[in-house]
Amino acid sequence: MIKMLSTKEILSTLFSYMVNYYDWERFPDFEAIYQFILKEGEQTFHYYISIAKGKAEYHEGEHESPSIKIYSPVSVWLDIASGRLNGFWGLITRKYRIEGPLSYLKQMDKVFGKKIDIPEIEEKIADYEDPKKRIWKKPDKVLVINGSPRQEKGFTFFYLQYLLKGFEKAETEVEVINIYDKHINIEPCRGCSTCWTKTDGVCVIKDDANDLLEKIGNAYLTVYAFPLYIESIPAKLKALLDRRFIIILPYFIPYCNLTRHPLRNKKERYMVLFSVCGLPEIEHFKPLVETFKGMARGSHTPLIATILRPGAEGLYGSPYGKEYLKKVLESLEQAGKEIIEKGKVSKNVMKAISKNYIPLAAWREGANWYWYLKREK
Ligand SMILES: Cc1cc2nc3c(=O)[nH]c(=O)nc-3n(C[C@H](O)[C@H](O)[C@H](O)COP(=O)(O)O)c2cc1C
Repeated sequence: MIKMLSTKEILSTLFSYMVNYYDWERFPDFEAIYQFILKEGEQTFHYYISIAKGKAEYHEGEHESPSIKIYSPVSVWLDIASGRLNGFWGLITRKYRIEGPLSYLKQMDKVFGKKIDIPEIEEKIADYEDPKKRIWKKPDKVLVINGSPRQEKGFTFFYLQYLLKGFEKAETEVEVINIYDKHINIEPCRGCSTCWTKTDGVCVIKDDANDLLEKIGNAYLTVYAFPLYIESIPAKLKALLDRRFIIILPYFIPYCNLTRHPLRNKKERYMVLFSVCGLPEIEHFKPLVETFKGMARGSHTPLIATILRPGAEGLYGSPYGKEYLKKVLESLEQAGKEIIEKGKVSKNVMKAISKNYIPLAAWREGANWYWYLKREK
């Protein structure tokens, strides 16, 4: 069980950070003893950092002849350390006080200012991630992950076929993997982080997810096709997507005012979201689309199209739907061609695919009759 850290544990972490931040390259001859006297309620914590011979160490306790003494409430010093409070301003406004030469305090920012130097931390956003700079190359092959538990008998595949027809018309090879095939074994991620700390991106679980992720990693374009399950992704596909933890490094970089991880192997790749659902309104896909946007950001793999068909069964089975169904299927084929040729789908085609063509009252009445009769039998 994870327990709350005590103030002493928090301070030990803080001082161990400070020691790491000591910039021995810039200040190899700097010598000082910083004594901290930090108070929280009735408790007083004594720590000192000694810097000598290019080395910084922290100790608990009191040094007999420190260069400077810093008296502060714990919360104030934590605010200064995190950058929430300017150290100098804190001193002027008497949030804390010092004994000893001010120069030691003034130098702290620089002396403890070593920047982390990790070669894999590359903050540049690749051109292919920016639709304005992207140069789309027509793919020779598309990988399609069918995440419908009903595999080729499902509505996902019924609609998907037409998108695939469009791919083939644009002369692209298609590989479909039905991940609910009983021979494909995918265990859920265990959250052990071994792939981050010890094995350089190799998962400790030995099952079919590893080969699948390698395939996805090598594919220029992957289509994720599946039915909406509780506003989200069917469990086996979600397990596969969670296992993508291996593709990212455990570091943090900025991306458009957010934070993400760097990729282990940088490569130009794209993805398409293809989903069908039972309810008739497009709004039901909102959480899923947000999830995929996040996934695209996190995996440095732009989401180039979201092909969504709500009311999948209703449109197929309704006596009022036949003509509209034809229109949807033709639009899906068109979307397939556009994805391959342009790397995007025009708005009117997307709209034609997603529109609810059956008046809602008739849709609900029809759906209620369908299930009522099913239950009666
Ligand atoms: C467990 C489960 C959860 C579902 N959750 C939703 C949902 O949240 N919203 C929705 O509109 N349809 C939902 N559906 C309906 C399916 O998305 C819909 O029937 C879809 O067309 C099934 O595709 P398939 O035949 O490929 O399995 C759910 C179906 C199941 C079995």
